[in-house]
Amino acid sequence: MKVLVVGGGGREHALAWKIAQSPLVTELYCAPGNPGIAKHAECIDIPVTNLDALVAFAIERKIDLTVVGPEDPLSRGIVDLFDSKGLKVFGPSKAAAQLEASKAFAKRIMDKYKIPTAKHETFTDAESAIAYVREQGAPIVVKADGLAAGKGVVVAQSIEEAIDAIRAMMSDKVFGDAGSRVVIEECLLGEESSILAFCDGTTVVPMVPSQDHKAVNDGDTGPNTGGMGAYAPAPVVPKEMLPEITRTILQPCLDGMAKEGAPYKGVLYAGLMITAQGPKVIEFNCRFGDPETQVVLPLLTSDIVPIFHACCDGTLRDATIEWSNDSCVSVVMASGGYPGVFEKGMPIKGIEVAEINEAVKVFHAGTKQSGGDVVTNGGRVLNVTAIGPDIRGAIVSAYDAVSHIYFQRAHYRIDIGKKALQRLTY
Ligand code: AMP
Ligand code: GLY
Repeated sequence: MKVLVVGGGGREHALAWKIAQSPLVTELYCAPGNPGIAKHAECIDIPVTNLDALVAFAIERKIDLTVVGPEDPLSRGIVDLFDSKGLKVFGPSKAAAQLEASKAFAKRIMDKYKIPTAKHETFTDAESAIAYVREQGAPIVVKADGLAAGKGVVVAQSIEEAIDAIRAMMSDKVFGDAGSRVVIEECLLGEESSILAFCDGTTVVPMVPSQDHKAVNDGDTGPNTGGMGAYAPAPVVPKEMLPEITRTILQPCLDGMAKEGAPYKGVLYAGLMITAQGPKVIEFNCRFGDPETQVVLPLLTSDIVPIFHACCDGTLRDATIEWSNDSCVSVVMASGGYPGVFEKGMPIKGIEVAEINEAVKVFHAGTKQSGGDVVTNGGRVLNVTAIGPDIRGAIVSAYDAVSHIYFQRAHYRIDIGKKALQRLTY
């Protein structure tokens, strides 16, 4: 079977690594891929936004299954395009991908189908938004409606901070059109978890719960990033809570999307706050999480390729989906300055040494080949991932691996997984 992965970051490296383990796969391609992915797949120089070139490639090479990583091509309708050419593709349609592409759409679905979430209002003019913030008080959350690469959210501790955020998004347009509508919502208290779930339009099967670390600095301080590390399973969601999450959140969402005429296939990502009143949705994403995928897939013991087929074919109910009892931790090594301005092109040393430990896998997030060197080519550069019999062992192995890797001005959090340890200790 010939498989194509669309994307070129750490999530796609984890996907390509897992897909390459399938005995069903004879040829694996990745567009555009990266030097890490090149070890498992043939990298094809097509950007993820060039849908016409991607579909032409899939037709020419007779690709049997395409797996789409990032939200951008999904929200542009790559799945609809591949479907229209009779090509099998794993991911939601353009209509279904609105769950991520428009926060206002997601909130409408949550309201209509009674999915627990923060109380909220949507605004298209700054003055009404500001009046609402004054009425509600702080803390309060201000969100740009459209896609803003995970950075369009301000958890404001004061009314002034909220007003500044509204003006920046709506008047100064710091996120462009993504900020012409804002959602203002109640600040939820608790600990977060990411639940990724396989979906076939009617059946939903959650994967092991994971936890991201969005803030750039230790102790969850500093500005938000795309994610500075992750671990799974996340003990904030004990095993008994997963059926409740399926019953109150995932299944109502799938049933609702089907009723709306946009059946949901692919990965549904529910970003949850586990509050004193139970799990509530912070956001839905329409794809695998990054870096959550890098800690979830190493725990999947089943072949992932039949699962992708089952999602496409509507036969997920019969699929075999099994998990190991191990734990997995991934530490993001980022470029100096990220999530602000950073330089690229720093040579990276030590990945091979780090991977001598068989429990370690270094997924490439933002790298490129430059002559004989692999160099930095993005904000998030590497996802240094380790598996262990428990979270403590996985943390030790991941940070030991990090200590072998070097590039100029590398920075990373030293507390990835700490919340899990605290929960297990007390
Ligand atoms: P989002 O892009 O919607 O995932 O938001 C980014 C981050 O902002 C989340 O991971 C949370 O840490 C925080 N956040 C978003 N919405 C809320 C909320 N209603 N209450 C508390 N924190 C939130
Ligand atoms: N880790 C956050 C995301 O994938 O959106």
